[in-house]
Amino acid sequence: MTEFEPFLNRDEIHCLVADIADRISSDYKNKDPVLIGVLKGSFIFLSDLVRQMTIPAEIDFVGASSYGADARSSENIRLTKPLQIDIRNKHIIIIEDIIDTGLTLAYLIDYIKSFEPSNLKICALLDKRERRQVDLEIDYVGKIVKKGFLVGYGLDYAERYRNLPELYCLKF
Ligand code: IMP
Ligand code: MG
Repeated sequence: MTEFEPFLNRDEIHCLVADIADRISSDYKNKDPVLIGVLKGSFIFLSDLVRQMTIPAEIDFVGASSYGADARSSENIRLTKPLQIDIRNKHIIIIEDIIDTGLTLAYLIDYIKSFEPSNLKICALLDKRERRQVDLEIDYVGKIVKKGFLVGYGLDYAERYRNLPELYCLKF
């Protein structure tokens, strides 16, 4: 039977999100950044984050997923939803739920840079940096995670559990 071990409760999540929202609000004063959420996992984090920010921001989403037998290469990632708004010469922040190997993000960074934004920063609620396979600089991190598979607060296991309001570590 699968067990759910509590990982972060509502208050803990709220504090992490509020801290990132404060930092972004002060770093991007008068810059009107575009926040680009990576579907689907980031949808709850992004919606909480923008409501705690005190500056205007535009919002868009991109989708990416890995495919093929060997998912350990950014060449095996495809775009499932393109950008919709024009980001040329704008200040971009990619919003991720969790970064694991970093391959998805490496692919999306290349994709977003191809539209020639003025600059690009990365924000992730959770960072499994021990598992990284590509070198990435993450500008805003909520919490570094050692290991384990997390669900809830937007994160899924086989498309389930995204709606749980708190974060859990799955024990298989
Ligand atoms: P990466 O390309 O290996 O960095 O994987 C990134 C994507 O895998 C994230 O955007 C998540 O959607 C998913 N992922 C990685 N770790 C977890 C986890 O612990 N729980 C749920 N999804 C995860
Ligand atoms: Mg994701």
